Amino acid sequence: MRKMLSKPESLVLVIFGASGDLSKRKLVPSLYQLFKSGKLPKRFSVLGLGRTPYNDETFRPHLIENLKRFLAEGEYDEALVERFISFIHYMPMDPQVASHYISLKARLEQLDKEIDNPSNYIFYLSTPPSLYGVIPKYLSLVGLNEKVSFTETYINSEEKSQANQGNIPIRRIIIEKPFGTDLKSAEDLTEIYKKFFKEEQLYRIDHFLGKETVQDIMALRFANGIFEPLWNRNYIDRVEVTAVENMGIESRGGFYDQTGALRDMVQNHLVQILALVAMEPPVQFNADHFRNEVVKVYQSFRPMNREEIYKQVIRGQYTESDWKGEHHRGYREEDKVNPESRTETFLAMRLHIDNWRWEGVPFYIRTGKMMPTKVTEIVVHFKPTPHKMFADVMGNSIPNQLIIRIQPNEGIVLNFAAKVPGSGFEVKKVSMNFTYDQLGGLASGDAYSRLLEDSMIGDSTLFTRSDAVETSWRFFDPILKLWEEDESFPLYGYPAGTWGPTQSDELFINEESHWTNPCKNLTNSDVFCEL
Ligand code: BG6
Repeated sequence: MRKMLSKPESLVLVIFGASGDLSKRKLVPSLYQLFKSGKLPKRFSVLGLGRTPYNDETFRPHLIENLKRFLAEGEYDEALVERFISFIHYMPMDPQVASHYISLKARLEQLDKEIDNPSNYIFYLSTPPSLYGVIPKYLSLVGLNEKVSFTETYINSEEKSQANQGNIPIRRIIIEKPFGTDLKSAEDLTEIYKKFFKEEQLYRIDHFLGKETVQDIMALRFANGIFEPLWNRNYIDRVEVTAVENMGIESRGGFYDQTGALRDMVQNHLVQILALVAMEPPVQFNADHFRNEVVKVYQSFRPMNREEIYKQVIRGQYTESDWKGEHHRGYREEDKVNPESRTETFLAMRLHIDNWRWEGVPFYIRTGKMMPTKVTEIVVHFKPTPHKMFADVMGNSIPNQLIIRIQPNEGIVLNFAAKVPGSGFEVKKVSMNFTYDQLGGLASGDAYSRLLEDSMIGDSTLFTRSDAVETSWRFFDPILKLWEEDESFPLYGYPAGTWGPTQSDELFINEESHWTNPCKNLTNSDVFCEL
């Protein structure tokens, strides 16, 4: 369990791809947050690696610039930043060149001496996925992998203190998503990693799991007695998960055109959210039990045949358009994107979970770029009352919905019917809501801070296990294969600022159902909707 683990006294975090986008936007600001709140090991260094020929002195001004840009307002503290960047170092190296790992090892030994570190290292792979197979191999060539033999269970006890004393060095490797591009490539990667690391040394990151509100799904479901009895096919009609963004692919054309929405968002983030909504209660909230339940959900996804894929998966791509007084390029006009690209920037699908709890309940998931707003939310629709006593005053019925807002304006809303005061019997929809502000707001650190901290203390609960990655790919593989085989599989254009192709409405089994299009502001969305 997390609370039993503690961070090591000393550590070097090695970031491959330190001059890249993720490092600038997320990793360095998150490390700063951890530093600010005193959550880093006492003796700590970061070694950034990349092909750009910086050294410590030329790299640090970029860190300052990026911290100013990417930290939330009021978080930049000049004196603190000065101290923070003094333990960040940089070494130029090409991860594809084996001999560069000899210099890496020498540099790490130097840093070990400086901070009195018994060679505790965490390697963070923030590189193009094409390098994921190469890096572990070359790390092992110079003995930096150190296939340690303790398991997470043991690290709580004596072996943890040995590790802290330097008898067993910490060697962990954090791998960014996507882990593979399909089932075969994920399996191949797993084989490579198995040779050089033990599963408990691997931290496959899915930053959605680091979000407070995603973790809160567990609390909502399993720390309350009132929802669980209703949380099944008897009372739930359908579930929607929407994770959309109001921007395009920005400068990531090269990556995105090879990836698309299914690989970028659905195969990992969206199914992870779905797993939390659909899973059985884990015996305990720890790495093994939690992740066992996640895998079971993925194993229960009903496989789709070709005909079902045509009907249940809708893909789209944003087109050139004017929106909010601005002209926006279409996806195909973006930099480093093939002008005839058929990569999807929108995906909506209906899927089914074949198990006792969820038989017959459709799950609708949707993601897209260039949508009207940036929002991630889950809508659980409960079944209507069996007898419509107020049908004449409230039409068919007022649906009970539980809305879990992951971001922004994080919170939970329960919609139900209430009588309007006064004569007669008018019934209307009302909402009960909770926003995280009521708990003093969310911690300012973002998902990456939480996950970086977990990797330091050795808690892999919120990281993806290899069987989950592969089971998820196994479900999505036939879709990717069909898209590859059938060039004419529909790809609908949609203008910026819309909710994607209208064909996605046809996914709903019940003709009266439709997508819940969320507003940026959680409450009173029918009254005031800011997009
Ligand atoms: C990343 C995807 O994993 O998640 C991006 O690669 C996407 O395309 C991002 O924009 C969304 O994350 P968040 O935390 O901003 O919702």
